[in-house]
Amino acid sequence: MILSDIEYKKATSGDIPMVQKLLMANRLPYQDVVTSGVSFIIALSDGHIIGCIGIEGKDNHALLRSFAVDERYKNKGIGSKLYQRLLAQLSEEKTEMLHLLTTTADGYFKKKGFVRCDRTTAPESIKSTKEFSSICPSDSIYMTLCIKPISPGNSSA
Ligand SMILES: CC(C)(COP(=O)(O)OP(=O)(O)OC[C@H]1O[C@@H](n2cnc3c(N)ncnc32)[C@H](O)[C@@H]1OP(=O)(O)O)[C@@H](O)C(=O)NCCC(=O)NCCS
Repeated sequence: MILSDIEYKKATSGDIPMVQKLLMANRLPYQDVVTSGVSFIIALSDGHIIGCIGIEGKDNHALLRSFAVDERYKNKGIGSKLYQRLLAQLSEEKTEMLHLLTTTADGYFKKKGFVRCDRTTAPESIKSTKEFSSICPSDSIYMTLCIKPISPGNSSA
């Protein structure tokens, strides 16, 4: 495998079944990705989806979720490339703050600058997501990262 041959792009609806398969293999929630309106960036090797990162919500606050790399390709920087591409995409959008829940990768996100927060402090738009309200276990770690200065009056939008 040559890492420079890996292609990164926005997923289309036709990619979703393979994305769900990757999420399932990584024991991450996958059933609601379409109904929850998650948009994905995917990594492809020889046309096969080997990584994905999802974002839910197009407001000032968005939920980073559904982040997985195929077992055979882990620890090669593919997750970081997906994450960087997501940040580049969000720099052109409204999102100011990223939120996530994890039971498995808090150490990974800490290295990216995320800080652990009390789940009760999440804004309503995040609390009301399916992942937050019903899918993720209550002992999941809630983390946030400010990616742009928060606009006045939008701290809990
Ligand atoms: C988290 C994940 C997407 C990272 O992708 P990746 O391509 O393997 O990661 P990268 O190559 O960008 O980064 C590798 C580095 O992160 C560290 N790392 C990887 N997974 C980690 C985890 N779960 N916790 C802490 N550190 C982790 C590696 O040890 C490595 O550290 P180093 O650079 O100091 O050697 C991938 O490990 C994965 O699919 N995990 C299972 C699903 C999951 O937990 N997703 C996150 C919740 S949404």
